[in-house]
Amino acid sequence: PKPIIIDCDPGIDDAVALFLAMALDSLDVKAIITVAGNMPLAVTERNARCLVELAQRSQVKVYGGCPRPLLRSPLFARHVHGDNGLGGLLLPDPQVPLQPTHGVTALIEILRQSPEPVSLATLGPLTNLAVALVQAPDIAPAIAEIVIMGGAMRAGNVTPSAEFNFYADPHAAQIVMDSGIPLTLIGLDVTHQVIATPPRLERIRQLQNPVAQAVVEMVSRYGSTDQQVLGLVGPPLHDPCVIAYLVQPDLFETKPGYVAIETASDLNLGRSVVDFQGLMGHLPNATVALSIDSVGFYELLLEALSLY
Ligand code: BDR
Ligand code: CA
Repeated sequence: PKPIIIDCDPGIDDAVALFLAMALDSLDVKAIITVAGNMPLAVTERNARCLVELAQRSQVKVYGGCPRPLLRSPLFARHVHGDNGLGGLLLPDPQVPLQPTHGVTALIEILRQSPEPVSLATLGPLTNLAVALVQAPDIAPAIAEIVIMGGAMRAGNVTPSAEFNFYADPHAAQIVMDSGIPLTLIGLDVTHQVIATPPRLERIRQLQNPVAQAVVEMVSRYGSTDQQVLGLVGPPLHDPCVIAYLVQPDLFETKPGYVAIETASDLNLGRSVVDFQGLMGHLPNATVALSIDSVGFYELLLEALSLY
């Protein structure tokens, strides 16, 4: 299996991504690290531990990372993910402990000790990874690739220009873009193609296991703002696309490009500027996802959830 570390801010779609990753034999989840994002750090840590426990994957270690972005004040998304970050899904206090090591330290140590390069799946603001790269630049060669949910080539979802994860910590995102590590960017242009329509949710419900039930309960209460504004027929499952890319990249159409993040302007703060034509005079620093086979994505998700 491919070793991966998941950095996340659960978050309803983060939760689905964690379930997808922990179900698949082709992935070996080395650690889950959380960050302040959709919710404050204390909530994302707790949610990750609850989700690991519900999935009966208690051997997967959960670490807490940075409690705030590099420069900006924290920005949460309670209106999207509910007051507990899981759309109100109530889970018992977890037995799975929070690891005593800081998430950034754990990320550095795991990478330094790994006999093979590890892939990173980032599902939230990029604060933890940026701090790790600043603190320990030697980890770069130990990272096989970074697959990032973030950005938008068309409209954003926090401002007209910016997507949440990049808007929440644009400076961290820029550090990661400049890292020279192989990057894949999966933005809203792609994630808005994987809509959890009522028939798809019904198929998940019919799996009739506790994880599938939790997914249906959370996703049913997710993304209503996006849906209304964009006229979608269900919520988009942003973060699971990252996991899908790690196991089935052929589901995606991609193109190399140069990506930079706006960190200075008020109007465009957090915008991912994607240059496919070399207009800015840079070689590509990222593989940019353009589209996804959404039918194939839901087949993968259903198969994975059926394993619980
Ligand atoms: C991203 O923002 C968060 O609210 C979601 O979990 C996802 O990672 C989508 O913009
Ligand atoms: Ca997220």
